[in-house]
Amino acid sequence: MSYDIEKIREDFPQLSLEFNGKKYTYLDSAASTLKPKPVIERLSQFYSCEVSNVHRGAHHISHISTLAYEEARNKVAQFVGADSSSEIIFTRSTTESINLAAHIIDSLGLEPGDEIILSEMEHHSNIIPWQQLAEQKSLTLKYISFNEKGDLNLSELDSMASDKTKVISICHVSNTLGTVNDVCKVSQIAKKHNAFFVLDAAQSVSILPLNVKELACDFLAFSAHKLFAPFGVGVLWGKKDLLDKGSPYQGGGSMIVEVEKEGSTYLLSPQRYEAGTPNVGGVVALATAIDYIIDLGLENIEKHEQQLLTYATEKIKNIPGINLVGTSLTKKNVLSFNVEGLHHSDLSQLLDQQAVAVRAGHHCTQLIMKKLKIPGTLRASFSIYNNKEDVDRFIVALNKAREMLL
Ligand code: ALA
Repeated sequence: MSYDIEKIREDFPQLSLEFNGKKYTYLDSAASTLKPKPVIERLSQFYSCEVSNVHRGAHHISHISTLAYEEARNKVAQFVGADSSSEIIFTRSTTESINLAAHIIDSLGLEPGDEIILSEMEHHSNIIPWQQLAEQKSLTLKYISFNEKGDLNLSELDSMASDKTKVISICHVSNTLGTVNDVCKVSQIAKKHNAFFVLDAAQSVSILPLNVKELACDFLAFSAHKLFAPFGVGVLWGKKDLLDKGSPYQGGGSMIVEVEKEGSTYLLSPQRYEAGTPNVGGVVALATAIDYIIDLGLENIEKHEQQLLTYATEKIKNIPGINLVGTSLTKKNVLSFNVEGLHHSDLSQLLDQQAVAVRAGHHCTQLIMKKLKIPGTLRASFSIYNNKEDVDRFIVALNKAREMLL
């Protein structure tokens, strides 16, 4: 199928907004993607005709919503190449998924002195849950560094990992640098030392095919809102045997076999990790979002975004004083940069006034900023619906902002 960008743009209502008499240019998809009409319509259909709690009601609509919720679980399982839908746990977000993975791993047995290896390019959501666990259990955290291009120094991992290593948790794609990490290498080292390999796929889920067997991880986390689907839904994939052995994270309805005054017994995965009423509407609309990108073709998406990134990189390099942050050859869909002598937040305000939406700040990756000794960056990010005109408007606006501030 050919990639009809104009037709795709028509599917995203938010792209037709205008601000200050200017066409809206959305270059912040690494934070959250926009939502296509089929996803919005699915959500609307759910809230118009299918509202009922799942796994509980004895009535017709409850059956329909339970079916749609469990079909969505099947869809996600196929999408990531899981062995079964019971390996898919719906959470609130990537953040909650990583916290849950940390909890499950802890419940499988960690001892004081055990080690966890992260990298310096992790999002805070893949640092703080491990720091909290390390504090509670007297574990040691280690960090793989990255080089001037933004590639992980994976040779360090070889010497850092030992039989004390119990977890290696890294991002698939850096939200700030755009680097795609060599997951196969990390997984080999994790296997060699019998450590759990947790993969944060928040940034890769909309841009790269994900197959948990090829990635050879033990847990994988991502969010629906970065995959053209609603906010408030996250996914944790884990191996069934680990999930069935791990202890529940939260207690409540829908996760029990039997409740007695003295204690309770729990269902297996996924129910044991889904206490309470889930975000049913968000989950069923996630299934629609997955259909949407599968129809577009992940290879077509990857090619389109790579062309845009190349185009934008060539254009931005012509602006005097540009410092690109992250220049890995593996880089995907984000362009982080600073302009010499100017603060990223002043520039972002002036871009906003020109209806260009980018992100400015540390992007929840303070370790990157500390290492590079910068307070933050501006970050433009590209997705399936961006075109060259978006890049052109961004470059014109950036030039104008620069001239106003200098
Ligand atoms: N993690 C998201 C970002 O990079 C919010 O913007």
